[in-house]
Amino acid sequence: MQQGHQSILILDFGSQYTQLIARRIREQGVYCEIRPCNESPPSAVPAGTIGLVLSGGPASVYDDDAPPFDDGWLALDLPVLGICYGMQMLARADGGQVARAEAREYGRADVDVLDDDGLFAGVSPRTEVWMSHGDHVEEPPPGWRVLASSRNCPVAAMASADGRRVALQFHPEVTHTPEGVTLVRNFLTGMCGARGDWTMGSFVDEQVARVREMVGEGHVLCAMSGGVDSAVTAALLHRAIGPQLHCVFVDNGVLRKGERKQVAEEFSELDLRVVDARDRFLDALAGVEDPERKRKVIGRVFIEVFEEEAAELKDRVGEISWLAQGTLYPDVIESVSFRGPSATIKSHHNVGGLPERMRMSLIEPLRELFKDEVRLLGLELGLHADRVYRQPFPGPGLAVRILGEVTRARVALLQEVDAVVDEEIRSAGLYRDIWQSFAVLLPVQSVGVMGDARTYEQAAVLRAVHSTDGMTARIVRLPWPLLERISTRIINEVRGVNRVCYDISSKPPATIEWE
Ligand code: XMP
Repeated sequence: MQQGHQSILILDFGSQYTQLIARRIREQGVYCEIRPCNESPPSAVPAGTIGLVLSGGPASVYDDDAPPFDDGWLALDLPVLGICYGMQMLARADGGQVARAEAREYGRADVDVLDDDGLFAGVSPRTEVWMSHGDHVEEPPPGWRVLASSRNCPVAAMASADGRRVALQFHPEVTHTPEGVTLVRNFLTGMCGARGDWTMGSFVDEQVARVREMVGEGHVLCAMSGGVDSAVTAALLHRAIGPQLHCVFVDNGVLRKGERKQVAEEFSELDLRVVDARDRFLDALAGVEDPERKRKVIGRVFIEVFEEEAAELKDRVGEISWLAQGTLYPDVIESVSFRGPSATIKSHHNVGGLPERMRMSLIEPLRELFKDEVRLLGLELGLHADRVYRQPFPGPGLAVRILGEVTRARVALLQEVDAVVDEEIRSAGLYRDIWQSFAVLLPVQSVGVMGDARTYEQAAVLRAVHSTDGMTARIVRLPWPLLERISTRIINEVRGVNRVCYDISSKPPATIEWE
């Protein structure tokens, strides 16, 4: 909970859009938190809490195993917004009728606004919305009034007699509901009295004070990967405790071209130790072809190297009590959701096992933020926009993009290919619109012809995907001239590659990385 800020609580009934609700609320400068729907209500309204949102969810209020909900939440008498399933629960709780629909309504719909006071103030009389529901409210509870309706859904929005509870059958949080932002804003400012006191500037000041208080005279160790999260974590901690922060960047030999140099230059103000452990990693990877074994080898060597560095640092500065980690809010929500963490498809490499082994306490200054807030925070802290908007890069690096054995020669080859892709995507102005764009090296050779000579060289694959969280992805329809330019440049400039393919698989069923 953010002390001193107004706050909205969102109860999560399992909707795929719950995090989007939180995003829309925070974009209005209002702090909010997501809680699992089975959490017990507090006995009194927590300090600063100004409203409650009940999310959508996949269940039907009639299901025997419908998610549990304690009416005590409603007894708090906060302004409430119910969305989809949340609306149906509000209807049931107050004596309305919810009906099972014969067919699910999914997709775009037009609703007519019947009451443009309050929640719908400023919304067009007929507005486009996004529906995704099976059940719907057939009869609003006694005294409630219908605010909007669509052809398939006569009660598309409703409000209680006193106007303290409102409910929407459609999803205001998705971009397919263009005026959804207005609805969210009306709820926040009109019904909850939100002042919009949540800004990145205030976040920095508060976190700096909090970190200083937590750490005192102690020392903090931070593993920098070059990614956005660890970079922003380090920058924030540096602002708070300056020389008591010690960063370690490990060159594991499977980084992108130029990455080590860039990090060393960009963070030269920090106490940053750049460890050249290329040989250790690449020796350990020799002969390893299995993707999961590659990850395990890299994870193990990373921990060894990091522990050695920590020991050396201890000799230099004394006891180190804290380990900084760039954990973000979506990771925190995943672990508190009543659905539990989702299944592991690939074992991701991070510094997760370290704190227990090293007997350090964790410091996670980003654990209340979403990714785009972290980027804003990075800019606020003066980080370079290229760092802040860097595409995600997996911990095991190019090792999971080199199919088959990872050798020094193959790493060098892929670095060159990848550098061409990176440069071309950036100069086409597409880098920030794309979730990830990169190259993969295949373990096959194919025949080509260059000049008058036959070649028999490696094949590389270009991959570019759009995604919001890496869980699903669709391919980017790169313009043909750009694809041709990338292919021509790679084949002409990188000796050893004579064929370039474009990966056109979505996730699922393919994953983003090839291994
Ligand atoms: P996949 O390949 O599972 O990737 O579709 C989803 C997202 O996760 C990244 N990724 C990793 N990140 N360690 C990481 O830190 C890993 O082992 C790893 N494997 C995949 C991938 O780049 C994509 O953004």
